[in-house]
Amino acid sequence: MRLLDVAGLTAGYGRVQALHGVDVAVADNEIVALVGSNGAGKTTLLRAICGLITTTGGRIRFAGQDITGQPVESVVRRGLVLVPEGRRLFAGLSVRDNLRLGGWASRSADIDRVLGLFPPLARRLDQVAGTLSGGEQQMCAIARGLMSRPSLIMIDELSLGLAPLVVDEILTKLPDIAAAGTAVLLVEQDVEAALSVSTRGYVLETGVIALSGTSLQLRSDSRIQQAYLGEL
Ligand SMILES: Nc1ncnc2c1ncn2[C@@H]1O[C@H](COP(=O)(O)OP(=O)(O)O)[C@@H](O)[C@H]1O
Ligand SMILES: [Mg+2]
Repeated sequence: MRLLDVAGLTAGYGRVQALHGVDVAVADNEIVALVGSNGAGKTTLLRAICGLITTTGGRIRFAGQDITGQPVESVVRRGLVLVPEGRRLFAGLSVRDNLRLGGWASRSADIDRVLGLFPPLARRLDQVAGTLSGGEQQMCAIARGLMSRPSLIMIDELSLGLAPLVVDEILTKLPDIAAAGTAVLLVEQDVEAALSVSTRGYVLETGVIALSGTSLQLRSDSRIQQAYLGEL
């Protein structure tokens, strides 16, 4: 059964429609990439899925239930979390407090579990999040999302502003996260990196899914190579 099943989704801002009937699915324990140029509608799609913006058409099913139109709190409680573009940490709070705020139903074991995934954070638990490096902030944002043991985490622009080595360090954790029971929907500008860590992918262009397939297929697709991988 599909964990997340989005069918014919439309959404937008006022009279501007940003999504024109989007179909996207994620299975349990899967890593799925969502790529596309700036303004394609990737952030809008993630916001619509988790109930942060109202949809105007289509259906969202999650873990066997229709969550279309549900408020974000209810979606989070069902096990679907978003790591937003720009991370949105509480800059003035410690790493520990940021993590605690992520776990609405967390146990102390959850802090140990997420620190096991991102050891650099363990050394910075009492440090104020605003003073972390960009990579550590992204680790903290993902760790915060994982505190409530979601079955799906959606990460918007994981690599934004990060050095390639740091991006690799974080991307290599995604298979561990998925294997431990949290599927990943990854929005990424770095198409090469996204397709190397995912099993399937979708290309969103001006609010419609232009291409989808296994990541292997997409990497060898000439349209992807020309538009996103800088190959001619
Ligand atoms: N808050 C907003 N108000 C009005 N239009 C918006 C808003 N956010 C995004 N848009 C528009 O919606 C479209 C999709 O944007 P977005 O989902 O942010 O794309 P992406 O994340 O792929 O870069 C763009 O045309 C963008 O200008
Ligand atoms: Mg975006």
